[in-house]
Amino acid sequence: MSIELVKPGSEPGMEAVYHQEFSVRYDYPVHFTEHLFARDNPVFVQSIVRREPARRHRLVVFVDSNVAASWPTLVHDVAAYAEAHAESLELAGRPEVVAGGEHVKNDPALVTSLQRRLVELNVDRHAFVVGIGGGAFLDLIGFVAATTHRGIRHIRVPTTVLGQNDSGVGVKNGINAFGMKNLLGSFAPPFAVLNDADFLRTLHPRDKIAGIAEAVKVALIRDGVFFEWLDANAQALRECAPAAMARMIRRCAELHMRQIAHGGDPFETGSARPLDYGHWSAHKLEGLTGHELRHGEAVAIGLALDTRYSVQVGMLAPGGEERVYNLLKRLGFYLWHPAMETRDEQGRMLILRGIEEFREHLGGELNITLLRDIGRGEEVHAMDNNEILHAMAWLRRKETGQ
Ligand SMILES: NC(=O)c1ccc[n+]([C@@H]2O[C@H](COP(=O)([O-])OP(=O)(O)OC[C@H]3O[C@@H](n4cnc5c(N)ncnc54)[C@H](O)[C@@H]3O)[C@@H](O)[C@H]2O)c1
Ligand SMILES: [Zn+2]
Repeated sequence: MSIELVKPGSEPGMEAVYHQEFSVRYDYPVHFTEHLFARDNPVFVQSIVRREPARRHRLVVFVDSNVAASWPTLVHDVAAYAEAHAESLELAGRPEVVAGGEHVKNDPALVTSLQRRLVELNVDRHAFVVGIGGGAFLDLIGFVAATTHRGIRHIRVPTTVLGQNDSGVGVKNGINAFGMKNLLGSFAPPFAVLNDADFLRTLHPRDKIAGIAEAVKVALIRDGVFFEWLDANAQALRECAPAAMARMIRRCAELHMRQIAHGGDPFETGSARPLDYGHWSAHKLEGLTGHELRHGEAVAIGLALDTRYSVQVGMLAPGGEERVYNLLKRLGFYLWHPAMETRDEQGRMLILRGIEEFREHLGGELNITLLRDIGRGEEVHAMDNNEILHAMAWLRRKETGQ
């Protein structure tokens, strides 16, 4: 802060401006491990005590109900882990199982009840909130933590592919409201992210594959070599071979983290959405299908569409759209949904509204990433509706033959 001091003897004027300035440094580890709650795995306890090793730390642990159902000993394992490290960890209560899945982001009453729960457990700003679950669940828990006591530190344990390679490693959280996705939320970097590959074994096959779409996305806009690797390993990824999945997740997480740390706008104050390639239609489509499509499945359609569009408008060399389409197919995606063509009463395609909604989310100028090359995204500020409809017709023909 720089303050202009009043000279001795002179009267302060009526007007003054003090320039306030400070910066806050964020850092958090993103671990990749297995058997996170095995007693001899030090990752969890070390992540918590890393700033204050001599203290005993209080924790509240919330577990996604679908994860708890697939891992019946998990609640017990977490409690036993805390017991085994009792000199450093103290659970504020037994780990609590809370509903998981996208619908939890549509339930404001759940936010209130979890905030109340934190108050009942006397959780203060020295404690930690730990969320173990899918991307939707962690968005909810992160929001609850960020808004209680103006921000309690939270630890994310993502249990889905998408959570581990994308949403869990970032700085955002939030819930859906007033019919809009992620409308209420905050930028609140986690205290630590602990990715345990073991959890992925019980994921629904659809969710395993869906998360790979984010890797294709980030490869397309940032890393052509990674795209080649995905292409060469498509079969292993489709079968969710652990080694291939682990490599895919790490590279994808790394590219997302790099963008947040070095992209110059971690809290998205500008209007650019550099990691949202293929997302303007994906977000709209998720809604149009009543969330029948997983986020990653909708993103895969969005990628195919915007890659074809990039070719049509002369940005990407012809053939690129076939490469992307073929990779997505080999990974196991179905790239069409009848809801794509939902129309309003005037006969206008609702999907096209996705562009305006995309702009509105950050405000300011429209910024859409398209492809200049495989591995190189480029921002544009307008899209042509007719070209979009052509790209849709191309995709529909490829998938349905009509
Ligand atoms: N915060 C961000 O920066 C960010 C970025 C991208 C996406 N997102 C959000 O992430 C959400 C999607 O996350 P997702 O793809 O992880 O879906 P999800 O959280 O809905 O999980 C999918 C399903 O799998 C269940 N599940 C989770 N882990 C499991 C496991 N190990 N075994 C068995 N079942 C399990 C969940 O309960 C859910 O029913 C969306 O809401 C999206 O908006 C957030
Ligand atoms: Zn996404």
